[in-house]
Amino acid sequence: MKSHTLSRRCAYDRGYAQTTQFWSGRPGSLVQHLVEGLRVSPMSAVDLGCGEGANAQYLSERGTRVLAIDLSEIALDRARQRPKTEQVTWKCADAMDIEVPVQSIDLVVGYGLLHCLRDRAECAELIRRAYDWLMPGGYVIAVCFNGRKHERFSDAHPGFAPLLLSHEEVRSLFHRFAVIYAEDADLVEIHPDLDVQHSHSLSKIIARKQ
Ligand SMILES: C[S@@+](CC[C@H](N)C(=O)[O-])C[C@H]1O[C@@H](n2cnc3c(N)ncnc32)[C@H](O)[C@@H]1O
Repeated sequence: MKSHTLSRRCAYDRGYAQTTQFWSGRPGSLVQHLVEGLRVSPMSAVDLGCGEGANAQYLSERGTRVLAIDLSEIALDRARQRPKTEQVTWKCADAMDIEVPVQSIDLVVGYGLLHCLRDRAECAELIRRAYDWLMPGGYVIAVCFNGRKHERFSDAHPGFAPLLLSHEEVRSLFHRFAVIYAEDADLVEIHPDLDVQHSHSLSKIIARKQ
């Protein structure tokens, strides 16, 4: 692995190591919206930064083949124990390093990933690759922190300095796609490791390759 990968791994591993379950276990609202609201049934997907696997499990239960990637072995060990994930291949890797055949999948999910990358250029490179992996008509779902407003960030995520692009910058990463949903939202949450109520501003994007 590259050296920057090793330092990136620490961002969420600390929280994973201090809990038996860090995330809620429920799939992300945009994944549900795509499948249940827009009635899209992806045959195959890549879940980048899959964490404890809720999105991959949800998709697998609905017949989607999923390649689910994360840097954290702790999170992946939990994800591998999820039921009904026969359709998921779990892999410990850096999202920036994976190889996916061109035009071979119809959904890329990056739920909470982009703010873990180094800079806007790296985000742009990842979205460019995702565009190549997707078949025409395929979708990308991206949710990430943006720079508008965070409360008690460092109390809830000590030592974590995420990338904070503006909502407009996040949206502009998808300039090659048709953006069909874009929201600059607020999220209030409490993680089980530190029990600190805090809030994030989040960019939530669904985009479609034309
Ligand atoms: C905010 S969490 C979201 C987890 C999951 N997607 C969810 O929604 O529950 C971000 C995840 O991305 C992973 N991650 C961060 N940088 C990564 C990278 N470069 N490649 C792969 N995974 C990464 C972290 O280990 C963490 O599990």
